[in-house]
Amino acid sequence: MANEDTRGVKEYRESISLWVHEDDVVLEIGCEWGTTTALIAPRCKKVIGTDISPKCIAPAKERHPNLHFEMLDGFDVKAALDLSEHFRTIYIDMSGISGYQSLLDTIALLKMYSTVLRPEVIIVKIGALKHFAAHCMPWHSRS
Ligand SMILES: C[S@@+](CC[C@H](N)C(=O)[O-])C[C@H]1O[C@@H](n2cnc3c(N)ncnc32)[C@H](O)[C@@H]1O
Repeated sequence: MANEDTRGVKEYRESISLWVHEDDVVLEIGCEWGTTTALIAPRCKKVIGTDISPKCIAPAKERHPNLHFEMLDGFDVKAALDLSEHFRTIYIDMSGISGYQSLLDTIALLKMYSTVLRPEVIIVKIGALKHFAAHCMPWHSRS
């Protein structure tokens, strides 16, 4: 489990002031102890923090008793759909999908969420994806 500081989550958390709006319903996948969920909460209409681990959800509920937390496997998009909310913004910070080996899984996950839940914005914290995307350039034929 990570230390509760901003190591690795600085940009993820900085995005909140830019991308979260007061009318938004927000889903965070991989909320751990709910620290980012609690930063999102005052800036939106509703946020649900989710994590696969009961060892994270229990302390998250203890630390933030006024917030909504659920156990959820981020790969189970049907379970996210069953939360029955229209999420405008989805935050994803799942350990285990951070490396290059997981890029295809990550892209499939993003495609699934954008197709099934139809959010307007997905913020995903994955260093390998950022590195890869930063080095890509779409090719446009001149004809
Ligand atoms: C780096 S921590 C998240 C930190 C948190 N977002 C924050 O800003 O404080 C990664 C979390 O992903 C969770 N996780 C790993 N695999 C998951 C999955 N398949 N679905 C949901 N959560 C998952 C872990 O239990 C862990 O709590």
